[in-house]
Amino acid sequence: MKVGGELFDRTRRALRAHAVAEEMNFYRPLMGHEMTVEKSRHSVSEHKEIDDLIEQLEATDPSSSGWLATAQKLQHLVTHHLDEEEHEVFQVAGKALSDNDKHQLATSYRQEMERQLDAMA
Ligand SMILES: [Fe+2]
Repeated sequence: MKVGGELFDRTRRALRAHAVAEEMNFYRPLMGHEMTVEKSRHSVSEHKEIDDLIEQLEATDPSSSGWLATAQKLQHLVTHHLDEEEHEVFQVAGKALSDNDKHQLATSYRQEMERQLDAMA
């Protein structure tokens, strides 16, 4: 039986694909701008925290109370992370990146996300 079932399986794949695609096609270029370097480092460290919680869930019996407590921690962290990206990071990134950069990065982000999801299927 898969750890945590189908929903957990889909969620962890999406979160891992998100982290890789975004670090390559969003945070890496943003690291090169003074106005976005700190927020980029913060977001990348949250990706690591998210991945650590996923690993913790994978190593825990899904029927235990500990699994649910860790899953709730993951839910809170992911909600916080996406909220911060949408309300803080994207705004300042919009000033750091040119329109051409944004267009190219959005395309390469989507391609990498698909590639990652295919590789994990
Ligand atoms: Fe992210």
